[in-house]
Amino acid sequence: MQSYCLFAPAKINLHLEIIGDRPDGYHELVMIMQSVSLGDIIRIRANGREEIRLFCNHPQVPLDDTNLAYKAARKMQQEYPNASSREGGIDITIEKNIPVAAGLAGGSTDAAAVLVGVNLLWKLGLTVPELQQIGATLGSDVPFCISGGTALATGRGEKIEPLPDLQNLWVVLAKYESLSVSTPWAYKTYRERYSHQYLSNPEDIQRRAHQIHSGDLVKAISQNNARQIGALLYNDLEKVVLPAYPAVAELIEAFKRKNVLGCIMSGSGPTVFALCESQSQGEEVISQVTAEIDNPDLHCWLTQVCPHGIMTVEN
Ligand code: C5P
Repeated sequence: MQSYCLFAPAKINLHLEIIGDRPDGYHELVMIMQSVSLGDIIRIRANGREEIRLFCNHPQVPLDDTNLAYKAARKMQQEYPNASSREGGIDITIEKNIPVAAGLAGGSTDAAAVLVGVNLLWKLGLTVPELQQIGATLGSDVPFCISGGTALATGRGEKIEPLPDLQNLWVVLAKYESLSVSTPWAYKTYRERYSHQYLSNPEDIQRRAHQIHSGDLVKAISQNNARQIGALLYNDLEKVVLPAYPAVAELIEAFKRKNVLGCIMSGSGPTVFALCESQSQGEEVISQVTAEIDNPDLHCWLTQVCPHGIMTVEN
C-alpha cells in the first residue's frame, strides 16, 4: 500500500507583536516566522480500515482526537468525503523530535504534514494556498508550517507572505524539559495587562503590519545581515511569560552573556533560541551555558534556519 514520509520542521518567531483584539477572540498579530531544521518525521498510509490511527514514540503526545494531527486527518475526511470513502482510513506515525508544548509549533507542523500527506495519498491535487486555507481552521500556525522558510504572518498568524530565505544562520534551542507554558494563558494574561495599548482601528492595524514589512528586520533579512537580525529579535509575550517563569529569563541572560547574535523566547515559550554565526559558536555556547546552569532538566539543540516547510522524504 502506498505511503508517504514527510519532514515537518519546527518554527521560531524572529518577531512576535500583538497589535489588537479580534472579534473571533484571537489577537491580531504581526510575526516574522522562521523554519528550523529540527523537525518531526510523519508517515502517512492507507490502513484499509475506516478509522484514523495515530502512533507516536513520545509518551506525552496524545494519540486520540485531541491531537492536532488527528484533527487534520479528520478534517480531510470531512472536506473530501468521496476520496475518504474510496481510500478508507489513515495510519499516522509521528517520530517526535521537536520538544512538546514548547512554543515551536510542534503540533501545528505535524498537522501541516498530515494535510500535505493526505493530499498526496488521495491524489487530491490541492495547491499550497488551498491546503493553507484548510490548515487555518485547525490552528493559527498551521498555514505557515505548510510553506515554511522565512515569512511575515499577519491576521491571526494565518496570512502568510514569503520573505527572502536566510542562509548560514545557526540556532541554539534551549528548554527546561519539565517546563511548559499554556499558549491561551499567555495571550489571556497579555490581554489583561496590555489591552489598553491595543490598536482597534483596522487601518491602524494594517499600517502597523506594513511598518514591520518595510522595517529594519525585514531589511536585515533581505541582506542576510545576521548581526542586525540578532539585534532586532522581538517577542511581546516575553512581557508576561518571563516574570512568571524567572528560570526562562535567566536562561536568556545566560545566552546573551556568551555574545550570541541575539536571544529571545520563541512563541509563547518556554523555549528560548539564540542565533549564532557558526556551528562551532553554537556548540561552544551550548557547552558554556549548560556548564554554567548545570541543571539536568535543561536541554539544548543545535539547528539551522531551514528554507522550506513540509517536505516529502524517502521512506
Ligand atoms: O490558533 P491556535 O489554536 O494555535 O491558538 C492557541 C491559542 O493562542 C488560542 O486559543 C488563543 O488563546 C491564542 N491565540 C490568540 N491569537 C492568535 C493566535 C493564538 O489569542 N492570533
